[in-house]
Amino acid sequence: MDRFIIKGSARLTGRLSIKGSKNACLPLMAAALLTDQAVELADVPDLADIANLRRLLTELGCESTYFPDPGVHSAGGVLRMRAGDESNSHARYDIVRTMRAGICVLGPMLAKRGVARVSMPGGCAIGDRPVDLHLRGLAALGAEITLDQGDITAKAPAGGRLRGARVFLGGPFGSTVLGTANVMSAAALARGTTIIESAACEPEVVDLATMLNAMGARVSGAGSPRITIEGVETLRGVKHRVIPDRIEAGTYMCAAAMTNGDIVLDNCPLDAMLAVLDRLERIGVIVAEQPGPIGVGADPMRVTARVTCSRVLQPVDVTTQPHPGFPTDVQAQLMALLCLADGNSVITERIYPERFLHVAELSRMGAHLTRQGPTVVVSGVRKLVGAPVMASDLRASACLVLAGMAAQGTTVVNRVYHLDRGYERMEERLRALGAEIERVSDKEPVAAGAELGG
Ligand code: EPU
Repeated sequence: MDRFIIKGSARLTGRLSIKGSKNACLPLMAAALLTDQAVELADVPDLADIANLRRLLTELGCESTYFPDPGVHSAGGVLRMRAGDESNSHARYDIVRTMRAGICVLGPMLAKRGVARVSMPGGCAIGDRPVDLHLRGLAALGAEITLDQGDITAKAPAGGRLRGARVFLGGPFGSTVLGTANVMSAAALARGTTIIESAACEPEVVDLATMLNAMGARVSGAGSPRITIEGVETLRGVKHRVIPDRIEAGTYMCAAAMTNGDIVLDNCPLDAMLAVLDRLERIGVIVAEQPGPIGVGADPMRVTARVTCSRVLQPVDVTTQPHPGFPTDVQAQLMALLCLADGNSVITERIYPERFLHVAELSRMGAHLTRQGPTVVVSGVRKLVGAPVMASDLRASACLVLAGMAAQGTTVVNRVYHLDRGYERMEERLRALGAEIERVSDKEPVAAGAELGG
């Protein structure tokens, strides 16, 4: 298992291009199952989750080739897929358990093949993560759904085609992003019109609708809580460029702020980051649009932005919410930043109330944090100190890397395989900005001093 050794206090400076969005890519890849023609995605990041979904798609008869582009100035590689063989429609536990997002093959496979069997994803480090809304939505389209041996089996009505319906996708924590993607993809090939009410408004849902429409689907309203889909008979192949990753961008913005840095981010989806920008600006982080490869104002989702920071960080209150609210996927990174603010901040988690595994680890680095249920009070400290810490999930790991870069001394972040699920070569990208960070695999000895945080 790999770990990162980070020598803190280096100031981040330089330039980086934001990669294509992991969370947009996964349902886009699953949508390749909706057609027997070629689907080509550009700006696909080289990540463990993408590789796992490719493996799953291969099992389901969708062959793919990937041409990665690892440069710091690249936004990702090209992924070509073609679902030519529909004989196996079983997404097995062995693969789905490595990546919850495997559930996003359910809707496309059901719609195209009339049947899908997908292992029920288990809980994960950030909470229970049920899929009841996905199933409720597909049942509303006429699917018969059964659970057997831990597998969900979904069958279309006689004739093999789903039928359009009104579907309400609101749950106790708001809508569901992958559930909306599943129902929207399935409804694209259904007979008649589907209206999804309380749909997720995330930009990743909009990107999927854009690609589906380019494939011949008739989807309108994506990005709002009501999406209308008029079903069509078939969908064709497509070439599509994935939107940039707003979570990766938010992470590098926090990193710059914590190290008193000065960085320029190309391919930055500022238009999808207003809640994050609002909080960062309150804290004292300056994010200024500047001329870049595609020019100012050309595409608000692909902006060049310079990130700098005032020396004194102001405390703020933050509540995570569905888009366009503050994203849960940046909560941990913002907490790392607020650990160094001049006063008390309050962070409330409304999407995953248990998503606080980073709290205990940050405390080991000298942070002053008090948790009560879904709320953490962050009392800013003057400095964090290096320590060995344990990464527990993707965003918690990013938070610890950020804390390590701002801390005095050496931090060892163990189990960075979590990071590799969602950040492409994070250590190389941070090193390009001046961070002192190394990946050490367990086969190589770790210097004793480093292990002790010395
Ligand atoms: N929920 C239900 N029932 C459902 C589905 C969800 O109650 O059937 C609840 C969840 O437990 C949660 C809330 O609804 O409280 C929102 O969950 P959602 O379904 O929107 O999450 P998701 O689609 O499974 C995606 C991202 C997550 C991100 C969430 C919220 C992907 C692959 N994953 O998950 O990303 O946190 O939306 O924005 O798109 C990450 O990248 O680190 C990550 C966890």
